[in-house]
Amino acid sequence: MFQPFAIEQYMSENEHSVKYHFAESGVHPLTFAELFELAKVDTPSLFATLVDYPQVNGLQSLREKIASLYTGATAENVLVTIGASEANTLVAATLLQPGDNMIRFRPTYEQLSGNAVNLGFEVRTVDMMESEAWALDTDSLRQQTDKDTRIIHVVNPNNPTGRILTSKDRQALVSAAAGVGAWIVADEVYAGTELNSDTPTPSFWGEYERVIAINSMSKAYGLPGLRLGWMVGPAEVIEACWRRHEYAAIAATIFSMKLADYALGESAREKLRARARTLIRRGFDTFAAALNSHPGVFSVVAPQASAMSFPRFDLPISSDDLARRLLKEEDVLVIPGTKFGVESHFRFSSALLEDHLQAGLSRFNSLITKVMAGD
Ligand SMILES: Cc1ncc(COP(=O)(O)O)c(C=O)c1O
Repeated sequence: MFQPFAIEQYMSENEHSVKYHFAESGVHPLTFAELFELAKVDTPSLFATLVDYPQVNGLQSLREKIASLYTGATAENVLVTIGASEANTLVAATLLQPGDNMIRFRPTYEQLSGNAVNLGFEVRTVDMMESEAWALDTDSLRQQTDKDTRIIHVVNPNNPTGRILTSKDRQALVSAAAGVGAWIVADEVYAGTELNSDTPTPSFWGEYERVIAINSMSKAYGLPGLRLGWMVGPAEVIEACWRRHEYAAIAATIFSMKLADYALGESAREKLRARARTLIRRGFDTFAAALNSHPGVFSVVAPQASAMSFPRFDLPISSDDLARRLLKEEDVLVIPGTKFGVESHFRFSSALLEDHLQAGLSRFNSLITKVMAGD
């Protein structure tokens, strides 16, 4: 039976009609005007470009720029896709063979594993432990990995918790994969969005020979509407994914590839990441203050990266009902924890413009006060 992508369905059904959208997973995006200015886009040259089919696997200069972000990679190791979403989808369709299983961690963004389920593959779940700051249950990882495990999927830094794997957990992951020859598929869209450091979380690329690293313009660069992502991997896997990309989409758009090429130039790239980090750091402080104004109700493992966090609440209401009431009564959209398979939590995105965040949080606070009063 087809399994919809629950979190994306929830967002696409609600995000364009709600006033306070705190379910987004990225920072407040740039306008085209801001991007053109920040990245010094040469408008006459852009306008002179033919609106033609672009190079299907990605413009050469763009792939070279992306490759330069990964030690030892060349343009041959890069496929440009329609967001990290298409990359996750192509990887599932390309790597999994009959009889294989894959491992995903919980809670996480279940894009690759959802594809695997819909293709008929067994998906095994390894929990991340909230009581240990969302560390990986490495015993469970070892127990669940076997000779048929083809993919271990990791989102690092993680969505929804914003946690970065410890070096011990990274090593456990690499050794579990290496022990059975499994692929590590690392979704690294939140690298560059760290709260406590200006150095991006290192990629898994280069740590082991069977790694596919996935990333996009959507999070650290604040440009989700470009729908521009990529995967980096061994050339033969990239080529196999490219064959499927021709069926799925032919290519990403020429406009997005051109703009991504500007945005990933060294100076623009650094400015975009710095912008994201500023929004993220300020936004989380504002959100944490709102949570703290209800003593004993919320606890949150502070995110180390990403635009969001995943608080636990102690209230007589389910996470689905809390999210439903926030939406209906206060015009506030959050993601209930059940969309990640976890009750009594919600995901809240706070890397937004301060006034908007404050106004939405006052609505949030009033619903929490009502629920606490038994209304
Ligand atoms: C971990 C993760 N991977 C991939 C995506 C999809 O990103 P894109 O906009 O690049 O398709 C998201 C979006 O929320 C995400 O959180």
